Amino acid sequence: MSPAPTQPLGSSQLELESAAQCLKAGGLVAFPTETVYGLGADAENPEALAKLYAVKGRPTHHPVIVHLASVEQLSQWAVDIPEAALVLTKAFWPGPLTLILKRSSRVPDAVTGGQDTVGIRVPDHPLALALLQSFGGGVAAPSANRFGRLSPTTAQHVQQDLGEDVDAILDGGPCQVGVESTIVAFREGQPFILRPGLITEEQIQQALQAVLAPFESRQPNSGNAPMSTVSRAPGTLASHYAPRTPLRLFSRPELQAQLAGLQPQDRVGVMALSDASALVSPAFSCGKWVKMPNKPEEYARRLYATLRELDALGLSCLWVERVPSDAQWAAVADRLARAAFVG
Ligand code: TXA
Ligand code: MG
Repeated sequence: MSPAPTQPLGSSQLELESAAQCLKAGGLVAFPTETVYGLGADAENPEALAKLYAVKGRPTHHPVIVHLASVEQLSQWAVDIPEAALVLTKAFWPGPLTLILKRSSRVPDAVTGGQDTVGIRVPDHPLALALLQSFGGGVAAPSANRFGRLSPTTAQHVQQDLGEDVDAILDGGPCQVGVESTIVAFREGQPFILRPGLITEEQIQQALQAVLAPFESRQPNSGNAPMSTVSRAPGTLASHYAPRTPLRLFSRPELQAQLAGLQPQDRVGVMALSDASALVSPAFSCGKWVKMPNKPEEYARRLYATLRELDALGLSCLWVERVPSDAQWAAVADRLARAAFVG
């Protein structure tokens, strides 16, 4: 019999302190952030980091984000910080923004995959901040899922994915943002978006009073990726964040045409921006229909949990209605495109 999965802890002071102690002792602690749950390890403990990569099933040359309790700690972890980065920390930290900066000597190779940059963020979640404060140092934390799978947005998702391979799980309820942080990197001091998230290009431009080149022009497959880090960031690989059930994206007319060809025995999961009645006749049935929210923030919050629920139903495929192409939807569109990718 396999050992029992780790049971989530609550948020009492005692539980937080025991989680911080666990990090200090080289253990792995899953914790909630406002984006998704992270799988944390002491960023300065090479053995803990080796365990983190092993449990995650992640190639060791893929860097992880260092989480800090406050912006005051930034100068211990990064050097030559561009002015624009400081402006972004003031505008968005604590919050769902990761900055890729030149690393200080404090940052071990195991965190950065040997690169000279480090990803850093101060998360906006009371439990994450309390854990980070109690721990004191930097916590290296990728999303708390096995490599290439959907990110967890509840403690139960973490438990299902990682079982007994994690030493402690802090339960902070469902994540409010639901998709991973926006990642901003710099080249010669000029910022660009490496991964879209809740914080949009527009908000970043507004904070900086400067125009960024559009995110689309930097897709890894577009041939004009701006720096080597692009290919080193798994969040930017085409086939990432995937459910096990094959997923296809359709425009609304395409979806309607596909649905018209369904046979009664077909077990297909549909994620659409409307109820079934808007697209098919009342007699229609498929495996499962989920009406997704029409607001991008609400859609993002529900995205991974919905994909997990559909994935558990043993459906033959998932048909997803494309979301609008405007900037507010960039993070959701990006994650859906990756979930649909057949590599
Ligand atoms: O919202 C988030 O960012 C969550 C929560 C837990 O903070 N974390 C997260 O971590 O999504 P992860 O490891 O699943 O994705 C982090 C992304 C990866 O694509 C990684 O390659 C990239 O950040 N990254 C980290 N350090 C980097 C660096 N130095 N250069 C380029 N990319 C980097
Ligand atoms: Mg991840």
